Amino acid sequence: MKRKETLLIKSAHEIAYETTEMVLQNVYISENAKPGQFLHIEVAGHTLRRPISIATIDKENETVTVLFKQLGEGTKALATYQAGMEINALGPSGNGFPDRDTTDTTVLLIGGGIGIPPLYCLGKKLAKEGVQVVSVLGFQNKASVFYEEAFNELGKTFITTNDGSYGEKGFVTDVVEKVADFDCYYSCGPLPMLQAVTQKLKNEKGYISLEERMGCGVGACFACVIPTDDFGGYKKICSDGPVFDANEVSL
Ligand code: FES
Repeated sequence: MKRKETLLIKSAHEIAYETTEMVLQNVYISENAKPGQFLHIEVAGHTLRRPISIATIDKENETVTVLFKQLGEGTKALATYQAGMEINALGPSGNGFPDRDTTDTTVLLIGGGIGIPPLYCLGKKLAKEGVQVVSVLGFQNKASVFYEEAFNELGKTFITTNDGSYGEKGFVTDVVEKVADFDCYYSCGPLPMLQAVTQKLKNEKGYISLEERMGCGVGACFACVIPTDDFGGYKKICSDGPVFDANEVSL
């Protein structure tokens, strides 16, 4: 269950273009978080909290790691926070990825940009359970690439960049075709990427994580609703998600 907690910043570094990695210490969050969940972080001077996915969970050191892109004023302000400072957050928030079917032996992770961190968290857990992990990761350009080595340690990893400055030129969907066999896919990234992925893999079992729009983060404001059908049905990303069965929502 999510709670309002204070987390100590153990470290904060820019690890790729306008991308900050922050290690945060808190016993409750590290003990209760699971892959796919996020922290709803307060930034001083900004009314809305920022939803930021969890990239690693380290129960032994009582830490979680988050990565965020310095996109708007809130995340730019958050990027100036230093080790030793404290932040408040609601967490662990959201439902996280479901437990895998025990029959799944190979999974495909498809991530784009800042949608990649929650997939790393999941991939690490699945690799530990003996599942074969194949990853396809898309970035804008070479300067934006992060966690390549970390994913390589989990299994075969393909990198694409939009401008071809690193890895294969193109989009994740171009490479997904080359991965012949998998039992289930998990995807997180910008909406156009998720639309392309779910369309391409519509006959496969898969889960997607949606994080783009959020307001209150607790199911009260309806800023995050997503249609489930053409008849007015909807789900809330913050409280029903952010992870959904790929066939459960209309993108
Ligand atoms: Fe307010 Fe989901 S962000 S209901």
